[in-house]
Amino acid sequence: MAHALAKATLGLTLPAQIDPPKITFAAKEIDSVEWKGDMLAVGITEKDTAKSATSKFQNPILTKLDSQHGGLLSQVSTEEDFTGKTGQSAIVRLPGLGPKRVGLFGLGKCTPTSTHRSLGESIASSAKAFQANHVAITLASFEGLTPELKLKAASAIATGIILGTYEDNRFKSESKKPTLKSVDFLGFGVGPELEKKLKYTEDVCTGVVLGKELVNSPANVLTPEVLAEEAEKIASKYKDVFTIKILDTEKCKELKMGSYLGVAAASANPPKFIHLCYKPPNGSIKKKLALVGKGLTFDSGGYNIKTGVGCLIELMKFDMGGSAAVLGAAKALGQIKPPGVEVHFIVAACENMISGTGMRPGDIVTASNGKTIEVNNTDAEGRLTLADALVYACNQGVDKIVDLATLTGACIVALGPSIAGVFTQSDELAKEVVAASEVAGEKLWRMPMEESYWEMMKSGVADMANSGGRQGGSILAALFLKQFVDEKVEWLHIDMAGPVWNDKKKTATGFAVPTLVEWVVSNSST
Ligand code: BES
Ligand code: MN
Ligand code: ZN
Repeated sequence: MAHALAKATLGLTLPAQIDPPKITFAAKEIDSVEWKGDMLAVGITEKDTAKSATSKFQNPILTKLDSQHGGLLSQVSTEEDFTGKTGQSAIVRLPGLGPKRVGLFGLGKCTPTSTHRSLGESIASSAKAFQANHVAITLASFEGLTPELKLKAASAIATGIILGTYEDNRFKSESKKPTLKSVDFLGFGVGPELEKKLKYTEDVCTGVVLGKELVNSPANVLTPEVLAEEAEKIASKYKDVFTIKILDTEKCKELKMGSYLGVAAASANPPKFIHLCYKPPNGSIKKKLALVGKGLTFDSGGYNIKTGVGCLIELMKFDMGGSAAVLGAAKALGQIKPPGVEVHFIVAACENMISGTGMRPGDIVTASNGKTIEVNNTDAEGRLTLADALVYACNQGVDKIVDLATLTGACIVALGPSIAGVFTQSDELAKEVVAASEVAGEKLWRMPMEESYWEMMKSGVADMANSGGRQGGSILAALFLKQFVDEKVEWLHIDMAGPVWNDKKKTATGFAVPTLVEWVVSNSST
């Protein structure tokens, strides 16, 4: 399925309709020496590489493979100093009738999930380099891997392979198609449990890919309107579980969303308030959840325009990363269809621009819960949009809300580029979401909600200001959001300003999709 973004306006750019690669995964019972195909990948720990005095492997699987190929594997591993360290690899081209290549991939000392994901990524990049179509993966040693750990390992490897193979080439005039078509898992067990796990993994990955594509799309292509269309596509593709409402400016005025509309006021691209609702295909609903995402398709800063080196204005298309996570999770959940849980996906999408119709620093806006806000900084806009989105979410009668936002530069200063901040007063909800992130392999860190800092957000004329100086910037933002959440609702805020973007690879990460899906599934019940 292509996530074609329908409308091109400024710059005449239209994304190419490229279907994300479809790789078929299968669990097989055959012995690795019997497998035929383009590349047999073997995951090897440092311990597995132990050799005898005659430079022969001691590990039984490696010994068997090595003798099948006339000692080439041990030879190459010695010559290339392959010791099984994480990230190492040695690939042998073979003349025989079995696999065309055998790849030795280092797993280091231990084998946690993150290593298996990297293994998948390395396999994907070798498959690219050697234009392999059919690949198999096995481990030199399954010792200590319970059936449950085997499932986890297979899932992490599959994730690495899918996301490592995927490249977002929609905005390139030329691109190569990935060659990888099928991956066989050997030695990981067979049967419905593994198949179910792999299907779940694929579903999550399609959500991650959507999240990446939405964030990578530039603001001239992905306007609030186009983001709303993307949500509509999800709703129409999985009609059995979704309903959708898109509220326009007029409707938002009726709902008195002055805080959100204030941010949207300068833009020629009208705001769209997105409300997608998931209900399971059958059975009763036991829990109601909301996922709220910041959806700034571009953040110029407004009159407090982003200037100076390091302000990242040229990357502010990623300021809808929270909404991308929410819609990515929706897409995955539309396929997984968890029972017993209702989920509201809410995005107050708009663009923070500058014009004569825009909000001025010092203006006072009124949110839909009646609270007034002195906008002392137009660049603290995300919280203004989230204020009305959170009020709306609370009005849906949900038990729990998780919101996600690229909210503060301060959070990147605090936690660096790959860890998101978690803010909540509910220890229960913190536990749930952090546990989900651990299963999903994403990094979250709980931060304090220091009430005494609220004093910094005082306004002389309104109920509160929208910013309060540089100190504790991400805590202040969280305290601001709290003003718009019903006390009866359990609420947790994720500041993902750092992990939304991979600076080295210059691409979006799809961050938080796996965690959100895992959290919703952990709240489901039959
Ligand atoms: N979208 C930004 C936060 C951001 C900055 C994310 C850099 C990723 C990288 C947000 O709208 C913003 O501008 N926040 C201000 C808040 C301040 C004015 C109180 C910030 O972080 O500087
Ligand atoms: Mn801003
Ligand atoms: Zn912003």
